Amino acid sequence: MHVFARVPKAAAPLKVPIGVCVLDDEWLGPDHRTGHPSVAIALDCCAVNDKQILITGATNGIGLAAAEALAALGANLAIVGRNKTRTRIASARIRAAAGRGATVATFIADLSSQASVRRLAAEVLARCPKLDVLVNNAGAMYGTPQLTEDGIELTWAVNHLAPFLLSKLLLQRLKESAPARIITTASQAHQGAHIQFDDLNAERSFRGFGRYCETKLANILFTTELARRLEGTEVTANCFHPRLVATGFNRNNGLLMDLGMTILRPMSRSPAKGAKTLVWLATSPDVANVSGVYFFDQEQRPPSPEAQDTETARRLWEISERQCAVSGRSAKARS
Ligand SMILES: NC(=O)c1ccc[n+]([C@@H]2O[C@H](COP(=O)([O-])OP(=O)(O)OC[C@H]3O[C@@H](n4cnc5c(N)ncnc54)[C@H](OP(=O)(O)O)[C@@H]3O)[C@@H](O)[C@H]2O)c1
Repeated sequence: MHVFARVPKAAAPLKVPIGVCVLDDEWLGPDHRTGHPSVAIALDCCAVNDKQILITGATNGIGLAAAEALAALGANLAIVGRNKTRTRIASARIRAAAGRGATVATFIADLSSQASVRRLAAEVLARCPKLDVLVNNAGAMYGTPQLTEDGIELTWAVNHLAPFLLSKLLLQRLKESAPARIITTASQAHQGAHIQFDDLNAERSFRGFGRYCETKLANILFTTELARRLEGTEVTANCFHPRLVATGFNRNNGLLMDLGMTILRPMSRSPAKGAKTLVWLATSPDVANVSGVYFFDQEQRPPSPEAQDTETARRLWEISERQCAVSGRSAKARS
């Protein structure tokens, strides 16, 4: 059993035991929906004292485990949740993991709504004068087609357009805080997926998993195009696959899917293990100058051929800008 201790400032990577561990890599605190042990990883990383890190989807699963680990390393965490109670509980867990009277800034936003993403960005800009790392982690799969208030298919809105819009709105602050990093949680589920440019709302055909895979492909294309646009700025953009992780993922799609996820649980990683590459991408000097790359298990991996297609990445960027333009005009008209 390791007992958490504050990590001192250090230039060189450290081997750090984080959290109160059982079985070497699992913490006692359970995931709020699956009961799976969360946090605690020993990894090669650098202390990140006073780095300001904003994480979406930090109320559960990979995002919560990453936030706990980063807080334990000394980072100042800002978390985004859509539910006040869950966000408050997550904040308390992150503060406990930090173990040093740390404060955690909390933001409430429903990432399916562009107006909510715009309010979130404005609030972050007002409250965080410095932003060293932005982690676009929130994501979900939906079994049935649903439209958001912006008229966008829900999976696309939450998994792709929210990271796209939030990153764009916070980009200037990240540049001012450079060196800075943008990390997006993608997935190996992107393999075999295609962006249906002529059916962006999946109106012709909708399959929950297929749609999810398309959005995870969009995460990788967004990362490579963002990295290209950020060349020469000291702001990097990378994404990663956490592997199969026992979280709340796909527990919102009825009893059968819930049962399926329970059956998969013995083959799944803990959220702490799933968060390991995220924490490394946020902290390690090894990736300080690496950008536009897809990782898993702390190694660069080639994504699918479509994910490497720079023309598709450029086209997706332009279409995403158009999909966010209407809410941008409404926001301007209101102000
Ligand atoms: N689990 C896996 O095996 C796996 C594999 C590959 C990739 N991923 C990716 O990992 C990321 C994290 O997922 P997870 O596995 O940790 O699942 P999770 O336990 O369900 O966590 C998802 C997080 O996203 C938040 N979220 C979902 N919809 C939101 C919305 N509309 N507005 C604001 N927040 C929202 C959730 O908030 P609530 O607490 O309010 O629900 C939660 O904090 C996702 O991008 C997912 O695609 C997961």
